Amino acid sequence: TKSDVLVIGSNMIDLITYIDRMPVEGETVEAPDFQMGFGGKGANQAVAASRLGSKVSFISMVGNDTFGKQQLANFKENHIDTTGVGIGTKSSGAAPIFVDPTSDNRILIIKGANNELTPEVLDKYVDLIKNTKIIVLQQEIPLETNYHAIDLANQFGVPVLLNPAPANKDLDINHVSKVDFFSPNETELATLTGMPTNDMDEIKQAAKHMITLGVKNMMVTLGSKGVLWVAKDRGELIPAVKVKAVDTTGAGDSFIGSFAHYFAQGEDVPTALKHANQYAAITVTRRGTQKSYPTWDEMKALSGSSSVR
Ligand code: RIB
Ligand code: NA
Repeated sequence: TKSDVLVIGSNMIDLITYIDRMPVEGETVEAPDFQMGFGGKGANQAVAASRLGSKVSFISMVGNDTFGKQQLANFKENHIDTTGVGIGTKSSGAAPIFVDPTSDNRILIIKGANNELTPEVLDKYVDLIKNTKIIVLQQEIPLETNYHAIDLANQFGVPVLLNPAPANKDLDINHVSKVDFFSPNETELATLTGMPTNDMDEIKQAAKHMITLGVKNMMVTLGSKGVLWVAKDRGELIPAVKVKAVDTTGAGDSFIGSFAHYFAQGEDVPTALKHANQYAAITVTRRGTQKSYPTWDEMKALSGSSSVR
């Protein structure tokens, strides 16, 4: 199987509760609304790339339960190749999420079967790993699995992107230095490098440090400021698109998944980042995680511009 994008990572069922406020200990509070949906950072990225038209393969583990069956059906519905999706023994991953009236969220993750995606599982799917234009990784599966994926990608000469979300202070800088694309926020960058990232100059210095260690492209996500791209002797700040946010859950994943799509289509990195910013901006204006991810056609219709692809 040849794919444009191979995502190796997690899937979760999102249990999204829209709240007026969080209860305090011992208190019961009524919340105005609830929505269940498909999520998990890996699955979200895969779905974003696929809705934009990439041929996407996914290596992931679902639980041996109802949620697992629903996940598999959802991958199929989104035209994702599930050759690499296995059924584990633990429960499916689940994520209780609380979205407040300012559109900010709090997320709990129960990884379940995602923890059964071990390095050995990857060895069964070397064929998928060899035959893709870009491999995308996040951090809801064991770190060792990501390290093995990075080594395999390097061995086969396939570009690999590591999105270090959710943050994990155990992430080893020696493995990170072998990736083609690394997308921390400023806090994750500071933790990893031990360097300050309080202003743009410091952020640039820390990003450049990662380039000297071997990372090919740093994509530092700066929230409302946009994303800072730093490569060897090159770099640029790609501004964020301003929109009215209603639910930011999964926006970061839509940014990564759409970036992988645009890169696989042959766009240069800053152009792909610009388009990924536009894609992510649309998702925050709508409720839900994958539910809020537009297809290529929708995206064109919404933006009314041919520069958005
Ligand atoms: O990034 C958003 C995602 O984080 C949610 O879909 C949830 O499942 C957690 O993995
Ligand atoms: Na959304």
